[in-house]
Amino acid sequence: MAIIEFPKDMKWGAATASYQIEGAAFEGGRGPSIWDTFSHTPGKVLNGDNGDVACDSYHRYEEDIKLMKELGIDVYRFSVSWSRIFPTGTGEVNKEGLQYYHNVVDALVENGIEPMCTLYHWDLPQALQDKGGWNNRETVEAFANYSEYMFKEFSGKIKSWITINEPWCASFLSNFMGIHAPGNQDPQLATTISHHLLLAHGKAVTRFRALGVEGEIGYAPNLEWLEPFSSKQEDIDACDRGMGFFIEWFFDPVFKGSYPEFMVNWFEKKGVMLTIEDGDMETISQPIDFVGINYYTGSVGRYKKDEDLFDLEKVDIGYEKTDLNWNIYPEGFFKVLLKIKDQYGSIPIYITENGACYNDEVENGSVKDQRRIEYIKQHLTSLKRSMDSGVNIKGYLTWSLLDNFEWAEGYDKRFGLIHVNFNTLERTKKDSYYWYKQMIGNGWFDKE
Ligand code: BGC
Repeated sequence: MAIIEFPKDMKWGAATASYQIEGAAFEGGRGPSIWDTFSHTPGKVLNGDNGDVACDSYHRYEEDIKLMKELGIDVYRFSVSWSRIFPTGTGEVNKEGLQYYHNVVDALVENGIEPMCTLYHWDLPQALQDKGGWNNRETVEAFANYSEYMFKEFSGKIKSWITINEPWCASFLSNFMGIHAPGNQDPQLATTISHHLLLAHGKAVTRFRALGVEGEIGYAPNLEWLEPFSSKQEDIDACDRGMGFFIEWFFDPVFKGSYPEFMVNWFEKKGVMLTIEDGDMETISQPIDFVGINYYTGSVGRYKKDEDLFDLEKVDIGYEKTDLNWNIYPEGFFKVLLKIKDQYGSIPIYITENGACYNDEVENGSVKDQRRIEYIKQHLTSLKRSMDSGVNIKGYLTWSLLDNFEWAEGYDKRFGLIHVNFNTLERTKKDSYYWYKQMIGNGWFDKE
C-alpha cells in the first residue's frame, strides 16, 4: 500500500465551460460569440463540429447536477456565456439568459454543491469582436461592466469567482497561433490582447472590491513545465523563456505589478512591443484571494535558433502520451507548483483544471478508462507532494465532468468522467467517475 491522503477540508470538484457543454446556441435570447463564428467557419474545427448542441446542458442541467451530487463533489466550476447575459456584450440584459444561470446555481446550492463561476472562458460576444475584440480597450470596460452586473445579480449565491480562464489561450493560442477563435496569427496583436485580458481581470477585481461582494475572486492561468534537455545555459534559457510565456508573463503583472524584464526584452528583440497606459499595472495588481491553476502537461525543451517565438525546440524523449498526444508529466505539476510558491509566495491555490484526454467508448454499459484513473492518481500524488512541501492548496477540480466540445478538436477528444454519446446525448458514468467518487468519499487513495 502507498496511501496518499488529503486534509479533511480539501475541496474536490469538477469543471466545465459554457460553450463546451451548453448547446442551445440560438435559444433563450443568446447572442452569437466568436466561437459560433469560428466553429461555423469551414476548416477551423475538426470534422466541422460546432457547439450548437454540445452536451445540451442548457436543457439537461438538472440531470447533470444529479450526477454531480452522486459523485460527491464539493465544488462545481462552470462558466457563463457572456452573450447569454448581454447578447451584444453591452446594453440590455437578457433576462432569459440570466434565469438559466439562476436555475443552475439554485440547483447546485440545493444539492449542497458550491458554485465556482468563471466569467470568461473564451466565448467573447461576436458584436464586441466586430469592434476589435480584446484589442480594443472598450472590450475591457465592457467586461468590467458585465462582471459587475454578475456580482450584483448573484451576490450571496455565488461566492467563488474566476475572472479570466487561461489568458494565454485567449491571447496567444487564439491570436498568434490562430488555433482558437478568432484565429488571428499576429504576435503583436496577441501580446496587446494578453495585456488587455490582464487589465480586464484587474478591473473586475476592482469592481468586486468596490461593491464589497461576499466571497473570493481569482483568475485561472494555464501552466506548463519545461525541463531543459541539457544543463547547457542556452537550453536552460530557452526553457525559461518558454515557461515565462505561461508563468511570469501572466503572474508577474498580477503579483508584482510589472512584466518580467527578460520576457519584455525578448519580445522587443522579436519586434513585439508592449503598450502600457498610466494606471494599468496598479489595476492589474489588485490583490486577489486565490489563483486557479490549470495543469495538463510538460515537455523537454532545448535551444534552437529561430524555432518558435522563443528559439525553443520541444524534444520528444519518449514520455507516455494521452489521446491528444500531450505528454503525461506529473513531475512537472509538482515542480510548477513549487516554482509558483517560490516566486509568488504562499497564495491560496485551487487546481481549477487537471485531467486527461482518453477516447474510451461505452462497451456493455461501462467505460473502462483505467488510463484516466492512472493519470489522476499520478497528478494527485504530485499535488500531495507539493502540499507537503508547503504549497497552499485549497482544492482540486478535474477537467472535466463530461465529455464535451473540445474546441478545435470538436467532439473527437474526450476528457470527461462521464461519457456523452453525441448522437443521443445519453450520459454514461465511466470507471474514473466511480474511482473519483470513492476517493472523494475517503479523502485518500492507494497509489499502488
Ligand atoms: C481549457 C478547457 C479545455 C482543456 C483541455 C483547457 O485549456 O480551459 O476548456 O477543454 O484545457 O484542452
